[in-house]
Amino acid sequence: MNKTVNILILVSGNGTNLQALIDAQSRLGAGKIAAVLSDKSGVYAIERARLAGIPAFVEVPDKKLPKEERRAELSKRILDICRKQNIDLIIYAGFLSILQGDIMEEFKGRMINIHPSLLPKFGGQGMYGEHVHRAVLAAGETESGCTVHLVTAGIDAGPILLQRKVPVPDGDTPGALAGRIHHEEHIAIVEAAAMMVQKILDS
Ligand code: GRF
Repeated sequence: MNKTVNILILVSGNGTNLQALIDAQSRLGAGKIAAVLSDKSGVYAIERARLAGIPAFVEVPDKKLPKEERRAELSKRILDICRKQNIDLIIYAGFLSILQGDIMEEFKGRMINIHPSLLPKFGGQGMYGEHVHRAVLAAGETESGCTVHLVTAGIDAGPILLQRKVPVPDGDTPGALAGRIHHEEHIAIVEAAAMMVQKILDS
């Protein structure tokens, strides 16, 4: 089958995972990074998309809306974009919003997220960025890593696709640990994206 698997990448920040995917475009097989969407304005991830010539969207629902309504609005806007751009696969690459509603059903099994810990450890509400690495160090863990998993309604709770581990040496710092994990994330996200592209082609 000569199908292109169109990928939407969701971001909220710097976008080094997005960059890893852009740099690995040729290893994604039929996968094509069709669009990038940020829920925050002014983030460098959007600049990365523009530099790579990928259509970039910034969708920031009115901050005065109650949290639930903002979430519903953002979910709806993203689903609209997915339909217009014929998206087949959604990758959360450092995306901090939670989506809900129709998009969850329409993209069930076709949304993945990368998280900087060995889930199910150190996931869930409030566990993002440095919070994760501080918690890992406080718990005296000897290893950490990253996880790519399917997105479901529960935060960081969907079925795990793959994990990559890093050691946590004595005297480690949150910054150093984050750096070590980031390196593994950039490998994991490309591997998981390629896996999903193949799975979608085979389905
Ligand atoms: C990564 O650590 C990822 O696991 C988490 O957010 C961070 C995003 O980093 N979900 P970047 O924006 O891709 O550099």
